[in-house]
Amino acid sequence: MWFAFLLAQVFVALVAGGAATEALLSAVQNTDDCPTCLALLGAFQTIALTGDDAFIVEFTSLCIGLGAADPDVCTGLIELEGPILAHDLRLINTTGQTAEKLCDALLGMCVTHPINPFTVPFPKPAPSNPKKFISRGRPPIRVAHLSDVHIDRMYTIGSEANCTKPICCRDFADSPAIPTEPALPNGNSHCDSPISLADSLLEEVERLNPQFSIFTGDVVEGAVWLVAQPEATTDLQAFNEQMASKLTAPIFPSIGNHDTAPVNEFARTTSNAANNSQFVFDTQSAGWEQWIGPTAAFEVDHNSGSYWAKVPGLDLRIIAVNTQYWYKQNFWLYDSDVVQPDPNGIIAFLVDALQATEDAGERAWIIGHIPLGKEDTMQDQSNYYDQVLQRYINTIAGQFFGHSHKDQFEIAYSNYSEQTAANAVSVGLIGPALTPTSGNPAFKFYDIDPDTFSVVDSSPTSPTPSSKSAPRGLRMNPLSPAFWHNLTEVFAVNETAFQMFNTFLSRGGAVTACDADCQNTTICDMRAFRSQDNCDTPTPGFQMRRRSTTSHEHDGCEGSGLAHILSSMVEAAK
Ligand SMILES: *[C@@H]1O[C@H](CO)[C@@H](O)[C@H](O)[C@H]1NC(C)=O
Ligand SMILES: *[C@@H]1O[C@H](CO)[C@@H](O)[C@H](O)[C@H]1NC(C)=O
Ligand SMILES: *[C@@H]1O[C@H](CO)[C@@H](O)[C@H](O)[C@H]1NC(C)=O
Ligand SMILES: *[C@@H]1O[C@H](CO)[C@@H](O)[C@H](O)[C@H]1NC(C)=O
Ligand SMILES: *[C@@H]1O[C@H](CO)[C@@H](O)[C@H](O)[C@H]1NC(C)=O
Ligand SMILES: *[C@@H]1O[C@H](CO)[C@@H](O)[C@H](O)[C@H]1NC(C)=O
Ligand SMILES: *[C@@H]1O[C@H](CO)[C@@H](O)[C@H](O)[C@H]1NC(C)=O
Repeated sequence: MWFAFLLAQVFVALVAGGAATEALLSAVQNTDDCPTCLALLGAFQTIALTGDDAFIVEFTSLCIGLGAADPDVCTGLIELEGPILAHDLRLINTTGQTAEKLCDALLGMCVTHPINPFTVPFPKPAPSNPKKFISRGRPPIRVAHLSDVHIDRMYTIGSEANCTKPICCRDFADSPAIPTEPALPNGNSHCDSPISLADSLLEEVERLNPQFSIFTGDVVEGAVWLVAQPEATTDLQAFNEQMASKLTAPIFPSIGNHDTAPVNEFARTTSNAANNSQFVFDTQSAGWEQWIGPTAAFEVDHNSGSYWAKVPGLDLRIIAVNTQYWYKQNFWLYDSDVVQPDPNGIIAFLVDALQATEDAGERAWIIGHIPLGKEDTMQDQSNYYDQVLQRYINTIAGQFFGHSHKDQFEIAYSNYSEQTAANAVSVGLIGPALTPTSGNPAFKFYDIDPDTFSVVDSSPTSPTPSSKSAPRGLRMNPLSPAFWHNLTEVFAVNETAFQMFNTFLSRGGAVTACDADCQNTTICDMRAFRSQDNCDTPTPGFQMRRRSTTSHEHDGCEGSGLAHILSSMVEAAK
């Protein structure tokens, strides 16, 4: 059926666009590897040069004609994100390094490019005799880690839960009159979180009485083809108010890739873009000030969403970084052939915050949305971040992320060529999602040593009533980087233990089979805090197919952006 559609659409487009349209369709059909992907960018560039309107029309008609997504999804997403891609293509050489990175982000092609060498400058060398933080065995502090709540404030009980869009459970214009599967009050695995589910999470966190909480981002729901600035703003404000009304202890939040509009898109200062996500920083600066204080709130507004704040009563600082400037799916990162090592100065900000922490004799936690080790983080910036981590290793007591929707961890080593317990220097703990789209809703509770600020015990906790009576471990075993490394050694030899981990990734909610190859890749990825060291590097076309199937390393957040649309188009044209 798509074929008839396609002919009709192509006919309409040919009348409207002529040779450029024909060249675009043919380029989509031919796209198979790096050179053909670059040729596709060339065909898109020709149209972009005639203006945003033509670009949107051509791109959208091809998306609909090929049946790459529902027509409203094609139309909405390309209208929101298309102008950014067109802007990129007008400014770059379509056979240069930036174009190759764009092919990597869009289609998983041209993935191998060497790291652009950059030595992060530090204000001071590492101290030769660093301050020691020694546990006095005092009772632990409890901290809650929430992530990826993705609250759909238009969730409609009784609407269709079984639809063909990225999320369901809403009254869409093309919803059937009588749903095949009516949405129930407390959520569905095809839908983002209803408000009641978020209330349940926050009430359970409050009941467990943490000293403070961290939130690693992604408030806004996944109907990304409909989300413009007004909705993103009210969604962010509503969750700030919801947290404030339910939680008595402070919460330290960070910004996720869904917390702007269009999704993923945070412009660089060098782009001089009118829509540079400043509305996000304004909104969160105002909404978070009650927890992080006025100085940090000022930083959120003036440092592209990053800030640092002291935890009241503790010698611990929370440094929140906006990781979206290192995210491959942020298409503002591709609007110049000039290589920028540190877009918007986030790495420089991190260095300054860590140096101040070291100078004060305190310790820091880094929180952010996107963990640095996965293939969706730019290898350059992941490498530079790792340099910062190694320099301030004595100061950084913990690192916490979200984004994958899974309950995971990534280990950093002093020498990635020799991944041993002795060389394990840090770990990034990745919190599971509340949204039920990729597993059962969950959050984490950590026990923290009040002298070292290391995690000494952690237990996944679910906001369902049944878990309320679940016993929690109170052992004070430090969960050190070496501990996590040793756990990967167990996973490599003990199939039962590994399969338990595989089940717990999604809290049993979306378990995908993991064979020996997958096990090997999964363990490799646990040992990769730098994205250059993970084993996800896709072969040409691999990532494209992977996105359309339920793969093991499917990124919970990224499935519905521009890359998904283009991948589906290329696949449909085959
Ligand atoms: C575009 O990039 C390619 C590959 O780096 C280079 O050979 C070519 O000269 C560049 N073209 C322009 C106009 O800069
Ligand atoms: C979901 O919808 C499809 C048609 O779009 C139908 O074949 C399927 O049976 C439905 N599933 C449920 C659980 O109703
Ligand atoms: C910025 O975004 C708003 C709302 O999403 C839109 O109306 C406006 O056209 C955009 N401006 C530019 C310059 O892209
Ligand atoms: C890192 O490990 C590799 C492999 O064991 C070794 O050859 C190399 O010398 C080590 N590098 C450093 C800086 O110790
Ligand atoms: C990790 O394993 C090594 C080798 O078996 C052992 O010496 C070390 O004590 C273990 N470390 C932790 C923290 O479990
Ligand atoms: C493998 O792991 C399972 C689950 O943790 C454990 O019960 C079992 O004793 C382990 N087997 C060995 C040989 O260590
Ligand atoms: C994964 O496979 C590679 C190649 O066969 C092997 O060298 C490596 O040791 C394996 N890693 C694990 C964790 O099993």
